[in-house]
Amino acid sequence: MQRRNFLLGSAAVATTSLLLPLGQQAVAAPSPAGGLYYTADQPGRWAAKVESHLPQITAESTASGERKISVVTDHGQHGYKHYIVKHQLLDSEYRFIAETLFDPTQDEAMSHYLLPANYRGRLYALSLCNKHDLWLNMIEIT
Ligand SMILES: [Fe+2]
Repeated sequence: MQRRNFLLGSAAVATTSLLLPLGQQAVAAPSPAGGLYYTADQPGRWAAKVESHLPQITAESTASGERKISVVTDHGQHGYKHYIVKHQLLDSEYRFIAETLFDPTQDEAMSHYLLPANYRGRLYALSLCNKHDLWLNMIEIT
């Protein structure tokens, strides 16, 4: 009997929360841009670092029709003191596609990827600096 009442009560609470006007629903989480990661529009505490930390993404078609994606962070690699640690490529739903880790004693902060010819939509690149955090940029693949 107690279990039945508990279940009925739970159902009532669940139903009530579904029927609340939007203004009374849980408050949405704040945007992570400008805090958890940085963008050109939301550079947060690194406003002076946009040019040297925002990854630049370009796409070109190969002879076989694939999309060659290049990601460059115009940062410079200063040994392990200050460098770009990695690039990541994410699809339009922020799902991981690929990443490139850099050895700052040898590598420039440049990475290349091949996408299928039929890829369409947004493509995101992340660039991680060991001192100036994580930067996100996007291009639209048409
Ligand atoms: Fe940096």
